Amino acid sequence: MQEIGSTKYLSKRVAALKPSGIRKFFDIAATMKDVISLGIGEPDFTTPKPILEAGIRSLNAGETHYTSNSGKLELRNAISEQIFNRYGVRYDPVNEIIVTVGVSEALYLTMTALLDPGDEVIIPTPCFVSYQAEVYLAGGVPVEIPSKLEDDFQLDPERIRAAITPRTKVIFVGYPSNPTGAVVEREKLLEVAKIAEEHDLMLVSDEIYDRLVYDFDHVCVPALDESIKKRTILLGGFSKSHAMTGWRIGYAAGPADLIKGLVRIHQYTIMSAPTTAQDAALEGLRSGEPYVEEMVAEYDRRRRLIVGGLNKLGLTTFEPRGAFYAFPKIAASGMDDETFAETLLKEQHVAVVPGNAFGAGGEGFVRCSYATAYEKIEEALHRMELFMQKHG
Ligand SMILES: Cc1ncc(COP(=O)(O)O)c(C=O)c1O
Repeated sequence: MQEIGSTKYLSKRVAALKPSGIRKFFDIAATMKDVISLGIGEPDFTTPKPILEAGIRSLNAGETHYTSNSGKLELRNAISEQIFNRYGVRYDPVNEIIVTVGVSEALYLTMTALLDPGDEVIIPTPCFVSYQAEVYLAGGVPVEIPSKLEDDFQLDPERIRAAITPRTKVIFVGYPSNPTGAVVEREKLLEVAKIAEEHDLMLVSDEIYDRLVYDFDHVCVPALDESIKKRTILLGGFSKSHAMTGWRIGYAAGPADLIKGLVRIHQYTIMSAPTTAQDAALEGLRSGEPYVEEMVAEYDRRRRLIVGGLNKLGLTTFEPRGAFYAFPKIAASGMDDETFAETLLKEQHVAVVPGNAFGAGGEGFVRCSYATAYEKIEEALHRMELFMQKHG
C-alpha cells in the first residue's frame, strides 16, 4: 500500500508555524541529569493549600458539570470586584467578562474575534512567544517594534505611531513583560492610548503579571480613563499570581459587544473552562492574598540575587521591576544567544532561553527565570561564573 506522508495534510498556515524556541530547550534539558532550569516561565511553588482544598471540595460536592459558557457567575463577580478594588475600573460580570482556559485561550479568542485576514497588530518586542503566533493563526500580520536595553525596554510611542498603516487594527501591550521584566509608565501608556484613539485602533493588554511587581504600582490600561477602557480588552489570570499554571484559568474583560464575540468562539471550541479550576480560582480571590504576597516577597529576594549575580559576571542585566525574569545581555561571552544557551546547557547544565525566541530585539540576550528556589539560583550563578571564566 502506498505510504501517505501525513504532514502534507497540514494546512499551509499550520505547517509554516515555527515551534516555540522555549520548547526546544526544555526537550534537550529533559534528557540531561542535574540540570538547573532557569528556562521555565512558571512558579516553582505548589498552588496554596486553601486553593487546592477548594478544588477538592468542588469535586467532592459533585461539581463535575459544564458551567455557563462565560464561566461561573460567582467567579466573574469576584474577578470584577478584584479589578475594581485594585484599579478602580468596573466591568459588568454578566456581559463584560469571560472566564477562559488560561490567558492563552483568552489571547486566541481575542485575536480570532478581532482580526480579519491581513489586519496588522503592532507588538512591542521582545515579548511572550504566543503573541505573534496567535495573530498569525487568526490570519493577521504581527508588526514587531523592538524595544531596547538602553531605553529600559520601554514602550516607544513614536515608533508605534510610525508603524501604523491603513491595515493596523490593534496595538498590543504586555506589561510587566515576559521576557524583559520591564514595567510600563503611566505616561507612556497614555501616549500609546492617545495614538490608538487618533487612529481608531483597539488595545489589547495582557496583564497576567500585574501582581508580580517590585517597588512599583502596576498601571492597568483600561483604568487610564473611560474612553480608553472602551477600546481595550484586558487579559488576566491566575497562573502566575496564584501559582496555578496547571489549573488553566484566565479571563478577558472588555466592552460587552466584543466579549460577546469571544464567548461565541469559546462556546464552539471550549464550551466552558474546567469547573473544578473555576472553583479553585474563586477561592484564590477569596483567601489567596497572603499567599500571593508571600510568593512575591520571595521572588523579590531571588530577583536581587540573580540581577546582582549576573551583573557581577559581566552579563549586563537590566533591573526587572515585574514578572519573574532577568534578561541579561550576553555580549561578554562573545557568543550569540542560541550558542550561549546551547553551550551553557551542555557544559554547565544550566538551562536558559535564547532571547531571539521572543521576537525582534531579543537577539544577544537570554531569559533567566527566577521562579526557581534561591539555592538553585545560587548554584546556577556559580556554574555561570565557571562558564564565563572559560568563555568571557
Ligand atoms: C505574558 C504571558 N501571557 C500569557 C501567558 C499564558 O498564561 P496562562 O497560563 O494563563 O495561559 C504567559 C505564560 O507564560 C505569559 O508569560
